[in-house]
Amino acid sequence: MMKKLLVLLLLICIASPTLFAQTKMIGNETDAQKEQRMEWWKDARFGMFIHFGLYSEAARHEWVKSNEGMTNEQYQKYFDQFNPDLFDPVKWAKEAKAAGMKYAVLTTKHHEGFCLFDSKYTDYKATNTPAKRDLVREYVNAFRAQGLKVGFYYSLLDWHHPDYTMDNVHPLVHSDTTKANYARLNKGRDMAKYRQYMRNQITELLTNYGKIDVIWLDWSWSKADQKRGVGKGANDWGSVELVKLIRKLQPGIIINNRLDLADYKDGADFETPEQVSSAELLPYRGRTWETCQTFSGSWGYYRDENTWKTHRKLLDLLITSVSNGGNLILNVGPTARGEFDYRATNALDSMAYWMHANSRAIYNCTFAPDSFKVPEGTKLTYNKAAKRLYIHLYDYPKGKLILPGYKGKVKYAQFLNDASEILYKDSGSDDLVLTLPVKKPPYEIPVIEVMLQ
Ligand code: GLC
Repeated sequence: MMKKLLVLLLLICIASPTLFAQTKMIGNETDAQKEQRMEWWKDARFGMFIHFGLYSEAARHEWVKSNEGMTNEQYQKYFDQFNPDLFDPVKWAKEAKAAGMKYAVLTTKHHEGFCLFDSKYTDYKATNTPAKRDLVREYVNAFRAQGLKVGFYYSLLDWHHPDYTMDNVHPLVHSDTTKANYARLNKGRDMAKYRQYMRNQITELLTNYGKIDVIWLDWSWSKADQKRGVGKGANDWGSVELVKLIRKLQPGIIINNRLDLADYKDGADFETPEQVSSAELLPYRGRTWETCQTFSGSWGYYRDENTWKTHRKLLDLLITSVSNGGNLILNVGPTARGEFDYRATNALDSMAYWMHANSRAIYNCTFAPDSFKVPEGTKLTYNKAAKRLYIHLYDYPKGKLILPGYKGKVKYAQFLNDASEILYKDSGSDDLVLTLPVKKPPYEIPVIEVMLQ
């Protein structure tokens, strides 16, 4: 009997290693405490990502240093020229707020290694450029003053630090990833020192700027790449130690999932599907996640990139995120003068127009219970506490909309944008039939708000 049990246990362990691994804990927070800590973030649903750095000057992707295999010396011109004379985070914060965003995350240091904040541990920082300002401090003050939650992005990668070792995307390796080249370039480099540098800087960021709501650490290679010996993960970063440090300094903070700590139940607070299509968000239902998306193909300002997402596509990402129980963080890459470029401003303005009228279908909402069938040509969001269902009209119906099986479930229906009543009748079956005006309300995707019984 005992033997059988042991074999069974062994089989379960082999079949589902992650199930068991997931019980590993770094701290001792309970599920209920975590839920409380995450509450504002889940209710917020919509945030702003900001990628700003020396690469904004090159204006051809934030990976320009790696893509073009530039040395520190070749990249130095961007440091010498960095002078965002129109940098005004108060304006940024107002635009974010108007667009309906509830939080923001700014790159305090991206892969290039340049720090927007006044760090004691490096000279490679904004205060030493012609900008002569701690841009992070101004950002924090401005966004906080607008009532937005404040987040820091911090790159685990660092293409400037002298102790950071080679991997397959390091600018110095560029196209030569041979072992001999790695060995030559790694001479004198010491990741232990780099780990200490990160701990020092994260300590600065989480002690010198008041309460920080989110930390977004970026990124780790897949386990397969790490095995192949081309990339870095939890051991290289000292991820467990970092999480302990972060939680000690800012107990309420929310941490993303790019530290390579999937083995730990509390190694991350949310998943980060990047640049996925709205169709790919469905499997995330029931998990905790935020999809990060650009307006165009790059995170940093990219002058000549023209694949900008349409208003409809951006709206769809927002609605689909909420209708699958997740968040959307939309990125702006300000120009080297420190401004949102006109394309970003237009996109934000159009979101502002929609959110002004329809934000009730976004905040505090999630996916609707399965008992509500999705009417044709629509997507649903749902506010459980308020007992309201939101029907997003992707294809504006001709005169009527059938709500399949909704009989007995509805108390009242109205357009969300102007609170104008929508009449409905019983079709004789289980369905309800809404009568809609011929003229579509002036929103790309209008919303019907249904008060539920
Ligand atoms: C990627 C890129 C990076 C960008 C990030 C945002 O990991 O390396 O440039 O900042 O995604 O999610």
